[in-house]
Amino acid sequence: MSILQILEFPDPRLRKTASPVTVFDAKLEVLIEDMLETMYEADGIGLAATQVNVHKRLLVIDVSENKDSPQTFINPSFEIIEDELVEYDEGCLSVPGFYETVSRPAIGKVSAQDLTGEAFELDAYGILSTCVQHEIDHLNGKLFVDYISALKRQRIRNKLEKEHKKSA
Ligand code: NI
Repeated sequence: MSILQILEFPDPRLRKTASPVTVFDAKLEVLIEDMLETMYEADGIGLAATQVNVHKRLLVIDVSENKDSPQTFINPSFEIIEDELVEYDEGCLSVPGFYETVSRPAIGKVSAQDLTGEAFELDAYGILSTCVQHEIDHLNGKLFVDYISALKRQRIRNKLEKEHKKSA
C-alpha cells in the first residue's frame, strides 16, 4: 500500500469531471486500498479519487468513531428523499485547515457498486449523507468552497496559494 498525494485547492485538476469505472480488477482494488490508507493517514472521513488525481468515479468513506468501518462507493449517485436541509461545518483534505458551514439535503438514497461491480443501495442520513454528497461533488469537479461567498473563497485561495509557494 502507499500514501497518495492529495491535490489542494485551487489546483485546476480538482475541477475535472470523473468518468465511470468500467473495469473491476486488481488494479482498482489496489487504488481503493491506497485511497483508504491515504484518507486514514490524513485523518479524513472521506476521499474521492479526483483528490488523488485519478479521474474515475469512486470514493472511500469512514465516518465511524473508531475508524474501523471503511465504505467504498463506485459510480455513486445520491437521490434526495427528503427536502429537509442540514447544516454541517465541512472541511476537506483538499482545502486543509478551513471549515465552513454548508447546508445539504439531510437524507438520501445512495446507489453505487462495490469493488466486485455488484450494485447496492443504502439510505444515508446524518454525517454519512453530508459526506457522500461532498465526495460526489468532487467527482463532478465541485468543492465545498463553491457553496460559500466569493469573498471567503478568495481569502482561502490566497492563503493556500501562499502556503503552496512556501512549500514549493
Ligand atoms: Ni473534500
